[in-house]
Order: sequence, then structure tokens, then C-alpha cells
Amino acid sequence: MTPRKLITLGIESSCDETGIGLFCSDRGLIAHQLYSQTDIHAEYGGVVPELASRDHIRRVIPLIKSSLLDAKLHLSDINGIAYTAGPGLAGALLVGSAIARSMAWSLNIPAISVNHMEGHLLAPLLEEDRPEFPFVALLVSGGHTMLVDVHSIGKYKILGESVDDAVGEAFDKTAKILGLGYPGGPALAELAKKGDKNKYKFPRPMTDRPGLDFSFSGLKTYARNTFSKYPDNKADIAKAFEVAATQTLMIKCRRALEQLNYSSLVVAGGVSANLSLRSELDKMCNKLGARAFYPRQEFCTDNGAMIALAGHYRLSAEQFNDDSEITIKPRWSLEELNAI
Ligand code: KG4
Ligand code: ZN
Repeated sequence: MTPRKLITLGIESSCDETGIGLFCSDRGLIAHQLYSQTDIHAEYGGVVPELASRDHIRRVIPLIKSSLLDAKLHLSDINGIAYTAGPGLAGALLVGSAIARSMAWSLNIPAISVNHMEGHLLAPLLEEDRPEFPFVALLVSGGHTMLVDVHSIGKYKILGESVDDAVGEAFDKTAKILGLGYPGGPALAELAKKGDKNKYKFPRPMTDRPGLDFSFSGLKTYARNTFSKYPDNKADIAKAFEVAATQTLMIKCRRALEQLNYSSLVVAGGVSANLSLRSELDKMCNKLGARAFYPRQEFCTDNGAMIALAGHYRLSAEQFNDDSEITIKPRWSLEELNAI
């Protein structure tokens, strides 16, 4: 029996991006749309949760409508609605959850709660050149930095994570110290292009001891102290920070690949858009005879396509609960998920 064609709608609303994706079991990703709230939060220098929720509410239905229009589909063509249930901002998550569960109830189809970090982790599988299981995943976003042993979809073991700031957060905070805009990561990376990599040497935290945990809060302090001494050398400080952060990530990825004896590394989450990080990891993988896989640039940061994909796997495996209660999980570890 050939499996039934399934179309999954994905809704992302965990932070400051409203994302919609439509994934079809036989055609792959058929539409995706994104509305970024960065302009709203920029004047506050960071995400304001209440403003985020209010804006998701405004954007989500028009984005679903235009994604369906793009894919030339009707609501009645959808077989399941996946939404980010966590981790993330509670009010923002409630928007996606309420919309998804209400639509699913009225259409009499399943609603599927998706873990945001699993969405990031699976995003490289939207590309044609896909990694094979098992692999090591480095997840680097604004809220998380972790290394994961990915045995198969849903079977995850966290090998190490940040004991303080996430690396994206350290990029953002360092950018703020240097007076760059919000979000700081891309702005800092842009400025670092003009910097001299030999001017300052920042530490590579926690690389001189065994283990796969990270610590990034010290780098930001290092940047602050250097900046107060040399306020005219912003680009060199940005470069020193970027080199230290990316080399620290590279050292731990190498350690994880060697420890597990795996030959594929998946890198996902907002910071995986960083080109210096990619080149550092590609060089390391080349030397090891391994390969690194990334999402396309637009799917590194938050998006609806990755949620539609993660939802598609759960829907195909009939892994969802029929509960119509609007539930969210603002804290939700990858290790709590079920294997498919
Ligand atoms: O995955 P994401 O969109 O949101 C979370 O789930 O947190 O990641 C956002 C983070 C921000 O900290 C942002 O500054 C960082 O990713 N980021 C970058 C770059 N692009 C985004 N950091 C460094 N270099 C970049 N090119
Ligand atoms: Zn994210």
C-alpha cells in the first residue's frame, strides 16, 4: 500500500519571528513565509515579550492565508497542523498553540506540538544534500548552545551545553557593548570583517579541560574590558570575539566527533548563519575526514519551514496527542522527546 500523501502546516511563534511552512510528503517544502519583528524590538535593544505576543496575533492568520495561496492549496488540503510548543516565550508560544489547536479542532485533523530545538536540528534535512544518521549536532541560537548525539529522529542525547550565556546571546551582548544595533549577531559579524585577527587574543573558554560544556559569558566581559581601554578599535574587538567564539565551538565539535567516531556534523540555529564559524568547522571536518551540514541561510534563524518538517515526521509516525487543550512547554528538553 502506498502511504497517503500528507500535507503539514507548520507555525513558529516562539520568539520574535512569525513563521509559516507547508510541507508535503511527496513534494517536500511547498511554501514558507516569515515575518520578522526585529524593527519592533530594536528600539528596546532586545525582545519585549508582550509586544512579541501581540504582533504574532496580528501576523499569523494573514501569513497562513498567503502561504496557502502560494502553494495553491485550501485549508481542506491540510492533514495536520504543527506548532512550536516550546522552548520559548510563554505568551508568544500561546499564540501559535491557540491558533493551531483551534484550527485543527475545526478541521478535525491532528495538532502536533513541536520542540523548537528539534526544528532547528532537523532544518538541514530540508536540503537536497542531507546528512545520514547518526550525527553530531551543534545547536547555536540566541537561547541555547548545545552539542547533541543524534541517533535518529527523536532520539537525542545532550553531550554538552552552555553553563551560562548562549553563544548567540554573547554575540548580541558584545554587539551591544560595541554600540551596534539589535539583533547584534549579524552586525558584529559584519564589523568583524574589517577587523585584524592578530590585534587582540581572547580566551577559548573551557577548552583546556575535558568535557563538552561551554561558557560564553567571560568573552563578553573580555570584550567590555578591551573596549573600555581601546574605544577606537571596535572592528578589531569584534574580530577577536568572533574568532574566540567560533574556535571554541570548533574545538568542542572536533572533540564530540572524535569521541563518538561520527563523520557528520549538523550545525543549526541562528549563529550557524555565521560564515567564519562555517569556514572554521569546514576546515576542521576536512582534516578529520568528516563533513559539516548547514541549513540554507534563511533557515538558520527561526522559521516555519523547520516546524512544518519536524511536524511532518511526527504526523507520519502518528505521534501526536488528540488533546484539544491549548498546551505549551516553555521549558522542554530534547531528551524528553520520543524516538520515531
Ligand atoms: O535561532 P535564532 O533565530 O533564535 C533563537 O531560537 O534564539 O537565533 C538568533 C541568534 C541571535 O542571537 C543572533 O544574534 C544570532 O542568532 N545570529 C548570528 C548571526 N545571525 C544570527 N550570530 C552570529 N553571526 C551571524 N551571522
Ligand atoms: Zn530558534
